[in-house]
Amino acid sequence: MPDLDYSKISITAKVVAYYRQFSDIPFASDVSDFIGAREAIEEITKTLAFENGEQKEIFAEEIKIYAPILEMRYKSVVGLIQKSGINQILELASGFSLRGLSMAKNKNISYVETDLSGINAEKNRLLTVLQKKYDIGDFGNHHIISANALDRSQLEQATTVLNQKKPIAIVNEGLIPYLSTNELSNLAQNIRYVISQFAGGTWITPDFTTTSMTADVSEYIVKFRQAISGTTNRQIYQDTFDSEESIKNFLKGHGFNAHYSSQVDEASPLISPSRVNVKPQDLNHIKAQMKIWTALPTR
Ligand SMILES: C[S@@+](CC[C@H](N)C(=O)[O-])C[C@H]1O[C@@H](n2cnc3c(N)ncnc32)[C@H](O)[C@@H]1O
Repeated sequence: MPDLDYSKISITAKVVAYYRQFSDIPFASDVSDFIGAREAIEEITKTLAFENGEQKEIFAEEIKIYAPILEMRYKSVVGLIQKSGINQILELASGFSLRGLSMAKNKNISYVETDLSGINAEKNRLLTVLQKKYDIGDFGNHHIISANALDRSQLEQATTVLNQKKPIAIVNEGLIPYLSTNELSNLAQNIRYVISQFAGGTWITPDFTTTSMTADVSEYIVKFRQAISGTTNRQIYQDTFDSEESIKNFLKGHGFNAHYSSQVDEASPLISPSRVNVKPQDLNHIKAQMKIWTALPTR
């Protein structure tokens, strides 16, 4: 499938960036301002029918739960990268998360972040602004490369800046919900292949979901997802798994032994819940639901 089809998904990187501004994630607030994240939300939600302004207000209130969801997701990926002890990272579909900019402040880390070319062009402009604003030095260890995660040769090309004699950690967040079953298999094969070119490694992702996790949400979230599907032309969560066991089996079939942990265990402290006033019962609910997966090659 041409990149053009996937580029429709790119607006969601702005949605994610909008909700991360309520956290203490490095650069999150600058990113949200610079890329016009609020406008992206408005663009997406304008397809929703609101009978009056008040209803729109209620809607905005109800979907604030995304702030802790996305804060937890981001921080849990950082937590597991650090736990892995691996210092070469390949991030797929990195959007505007800027984890690479933050982690590459450590000179011992080599961070390659990849996404589609349209996002990367905007991100490069953003990085120039941030590097100047915060006087961030360039150690040559943070690489922004355009690569379609479903194109093996592009991923191979992207990793040529890394040392194959050392292990690699491959991470992605917020990509799999947009993929079909075939595309997910393709992704898993590509990741397994890239790891095989290195001295071992791991795949870390919070993206695997079970049907019960994605179904157990408020009507506002269902509506918001419909709006995202309409904008991206992708049925999100179309291929969720029926259980954690099926996720393990899927990964086993692709040459991985996988296990999961709770995102919140890897992601404390969370700052956004008090900033956006999430109800304690809603927060506890998502804390219990959100998992992050670590997949290690079996052979
Ligand atoms: C929901 S956003 C998540 C962005 C980022 N990971 C984050 O959490 O902020 C989805 C991202 O997937 C990217 N994307 C979609 N299809 C892709 C593909 N085939 N290859 C690489 N990136 C892709 C989009 O450009 C977008 O940046």
